[in-house]
Amino acid sequence: MAKIVVVGSSSIDLVVTASKRPGAGETVLGESFKTVPGGKGANQAVAAARLGAEVTMIGRVGDDHFAEQILDNFKQNRVSVTYVEPVTHRESGTAHIVLAEGDNSIVVVKAANDEVTPDYISSRAVDAFSGADMVLIQQEIPEETVVYVSRLAKQLGIPLLLNPAPARAIPQEVVENAAYITPNEHEAKILFTDLSIAEALRKYPNKLFITEGSKGVRYFDGAEEVLVPSYKVEVVDTTGAGDTFNAAFAVALAEGKPVYDSVRFANRAASLSVTRFGAQGGMPQRQEVEEQM
Ligand code: RIB
Ligand code: NA
Repeated sequence: MAKIVVVGSSSIDLVVTASKRPGAGETVLGESFKTVPGGKGANQAVAAARLGAEVTMIGRVGDDHFAEQILDNFKQNRVSVTYVEPVTHRESGTAHIVLAEGDNSIVVVKAANDEVTPDYISSRAVDAFSGADMVLIQQEIPEETVVYVSRLAKQLGIPLLLNPAPARAIPQEVVENAAYITPNEHEAKILFTDLSIAEALRKYPNKLFITEGSKGVRYFDGAEEVLVPSYKVEVVDTTGAGDTFNAAFAVALAEGKPVYDSVRFANRAASLSVTRFGAQGGMPQRQEVEEQM
């Protein structure tokens, strides 16, 4: 069993569906409203656990009623919450999602997730890393935490998978410290301002994996550029597809699967995730992915 530590956000997604999204100053009538667990960190932790990993989450919740919902959901999915502590007088993270015209638009309010700080980790959560096969991190927490964790993982000799979402520039040191980086095309452009995508791929063989949605995933294997195609499915909701990809990729790599096979496994898991509503709605169990490879 792969042992995975996720450092990241835990949120509640407030999701409305509408036939069109409102423009500035406009009001539209929606069709439905649902409240479901989300947050990139939590989504990746849940996906990895469903795929058979032993998962420890390092995160924060607020002291509101959403906190309980977030913690219950972790427990139901067998994610350890020993290192998910509440922040007093702070709200839990929320994501305000509009599903319209076949795609999502999201506003994230980090709230308690801003308290996933280097201090919090060094004083409350360093034990979580012992014996870990892989560390997974995203960018809904402070940048200094990403820098800190990248150093810690390097020092401890644990491979770090950085999912640089949502997009922001990151210090070069983090790029060097990470074992795997998985931007989409937009995030890649913000990450590598002085390189074209093709140049960046060549500079970071078997480390940089660019996710191109329904086209697939591109990387350079040391000899040539490889495109691992995605699977065609009926799309219901793409929210959380990237999280499922990252979690599945981490699980496969942590189990020692070759890079190409790990990407395929992750593509398959991600494709299943979009067939149901909600970030965690379609995240598959291990068996479902294996049956459909
Ligand atoms: O990656 C999807 C997630 O991003 C959603 O669950 C939402 O919380 C947003 O932060
Ligand atoms: Na889904």
